[in-house]
Amino acid sequence: CLIFCSIMTSKEIRQKFLDFFASKGHTVVPSAPMVVKNDPTLMFTNAGMNQFKDIFLGNAKAPYPRATDSQKCLRVSGKHNDLEEVGHDTYHHTMFEMLGNWSFGDYFKKEAIDWAWELLTEVYKIDPKLLYATVFEGSEEDGTTMDMEARQAWLKHLPEDHILLGNKHDNFWEMGDTGPCGPCSEIHIDIRTPEEKAASGLSGRELVNKSDPHVIEIWNLVFMQYQRMADGHLESLPARNIDTGMGFERLCCVLQGKESNYDTDVFSGLISKIGEISGHRYGENAQADVAMRVIADHIRAISFSIADGQLPSNVKAGYVIRRILRRAVRYGYTFLGLNEPFMCRLVQQLVDDMGEAYPEIAKQQKFI
Ligand code: GLY
Repeated sequence: CLIFCSIMTSKEIRQKFLDFFASKGHTVVPSAPMVVKNDPTLMFTNAGMNQFKDIFLGNAKAPYPRATDSQKCLRVSGKHNDLEEVGHDTYHHTMFEMLGNWSFGDYFKKEAIDWAWELLTEVYKIDPKLLYATVFEGSEEDGTTMDMEARQAWLKHLPEDHILLGNKHDNFWEMGDTGPCGPCSEIHIDIRTPEEKAASGLSGRELVNKSDPHVIEIWNLVFMQYQRMADGHLESLPARNIDTGMGFERLCCVLQGKESNYDTDVFSGLISKIGEISGHRYGENAQADVAMRVIADHIRAISFSIADGQLPSNVKAGYVIRRILRRAVRYGYTFLGLNEPFMCRLVQQLVDDMGEAYPEIAKQQKFI
């Protein structure tokens, strides 16, 4: 095991995150629905911060200065779209959970970085030597400068060669083409085996943001201080805020010492069920494995979307869900020989896995 920790279940991992930030004065809030009905710039929740957009923009007053949650997200359309990767790699998802902590004009970069470090290394007990941080290098086009404050804060925890500069593409987070945004600092982890490290001859640093499945981003700390306007220029927000997003499934992969998100207890029940229905064993055939991952991912996206009020249809958000459903069915039909309806047979497993954290899925099981 690369990580010096006892194996935690995904439920424990989620709870520890919320408990940690509650102990730092954050109010634990429920996930917003995954389907967005009141924002013309967005069809689905694509990040934990969506439900707080109006607070960041200064249009609403924050009911609490700090918040934390685990948010259901879907990245299948618009600025953040991972659909084509899903199933082919082992760490992108359509629907995923994003663990987040927020400051609404309260604490800023230093505390966000210190607490992220404390949680990862002291609570989750991740070996600090595996971690890298990226910092925004600035952008001439936007008139923004290098984020010295974040770099300084990281230097307290990480040696210089574990801190990298990143450009606007990787280190400036934007919710959509317009809206709240800001420089960000990503935390990446190198979970390669010693054999993989020896074979590649490259350091973790050289593989950050290079699509290596075992050197991956786990947490993004966004320093939300601007608003992108329709003509492309940036305006300062009324307050400086913190918005962080940690990929829950990736974190489980790291903490459970697995090589793939699909080997964690978040997905293993679904993968087994798909195996039982199709007669295929995961890990025996590369094409069948992709199909099993696609289906395990997509049943979550479709079920949660239906539970949150968006049915598959032939227009707009409904059409996005219909395309995901079709993609799952096509992979099942083509690579697993599934000629009969099968998606509905997976819902019970999903409810067993996630019904406690998200009761809406259990309540609407029959309808789904
Ligand atoms: N809002 C932070 C993220 O989605 O990465």
